[in-house]
Amino acid sequence: MNAAEEIALLKKERNAVILAHNYTRGEVQDVADYTGDSLELARRATQVDADVIVFCGVWFMAETAKILNPGKTVLIPDPSAGCPMADMITGAQLRELKAQNPGAKAVCYVNSTAEVKAECDICVTSGNAEKVMSRFAPDEKILFVPDQHLGGHVSALLNRSYTLWPGFCPIHAAITVESIEAARRLHPGAPVLVHPECSKAVRDAADHQLSTGGMCQFAKESDAQEFIVGTEVGILHRLSKENPEKTFHPVSEEIVCADMKKITLENLAACLREMKHEVCVPEDISTRAKRAIDAMLAV
Ligand code: 13P
Ligand code: SF4
Repeated sequence: MNAAEEIALLKKERNAVILAHNYTRGEVQDVADYTGDSLELARRATQVDADVIVFCGVWFMAETAKILNPGKTVLIPDPSAGCPMADMITGAQLRELKAQNPGAKAVCYVNSTAEVKAECDICVTSGNAEKVMSRFAPDEKILFVPDQHLGGHVSALLNRSYTLWPGFCPIHAAITVESIEAARRLHPGAPVLVHPECSKAVRDAADHQLSTGGMCQFAKESDAQEFIVGTEVGILHRLSKENPEKTFHPVSEEIVCADMKKITLENLAACLREMKHEVCVPEDISTRAKRAIDAMLAV
């Protein structure tokens, strides 16, 4: 029996559901019940009947699934899979920022720790940030953490000014304007899709700024046959699988999130077999963080 066959058996035995992010390895996406972006996975996590959720992605995503399902067992195949951007602000740093800005609303990108979410009024993902932020009055004082790029992208779209925490994704930071121009020369006419975690110069050099779920939807609906994709390369698996007649070119093959790649079929099978690496969130933090996530899901 190979790992994929063992996972299928264990999943039934444990009454488990497997959720996977678009950046995970192709073979992990193929055994998942659902593959999606952060928003799609957070929504999916609220609709689960199973007793066990195995979250194939990074820690903050599994933590979000646990916060939304405090009564279920949430497992992560490798608990060391983290998000460096999420760790760029602590709860204490956010409390200090709030103290310096009395009356301001605190908004966090979902790529943040539960402790940071617990300090926030609302959460956003790259898939809903514009919609959620448009609900605030134009003159509302906003503290946006931790991603300066997503915050900058939305503030420009809505023509508003936010206090931006200087966090960033080190993986998307490696995408450059030069690499986009080189990809355009190789594939003339192909639309360039980039993630809003890219720098402003890169976002400006692209044609569309989309969440990973937004890229999948765009690729499906577009008449284009070829696309240049400026985000983590794991998404090419889903894009090609859903659109076998279309071609997807990564801006660079080197845009790889090592943390997402920590999830393998082997550690996924092992975590189901041994029911190990359970995600736990202290109740006081979970209750407060859930308010910020629920406020987002209600929009
Ligand atoms: P998405 O919500 O667009 O999938 O983004 C998550 C992420 O971590 C991007 O780096
Ligand atoms: Fe975090 Fe960047 Fe990896 Fe997304 S790609 S999980 S933001 S480090």
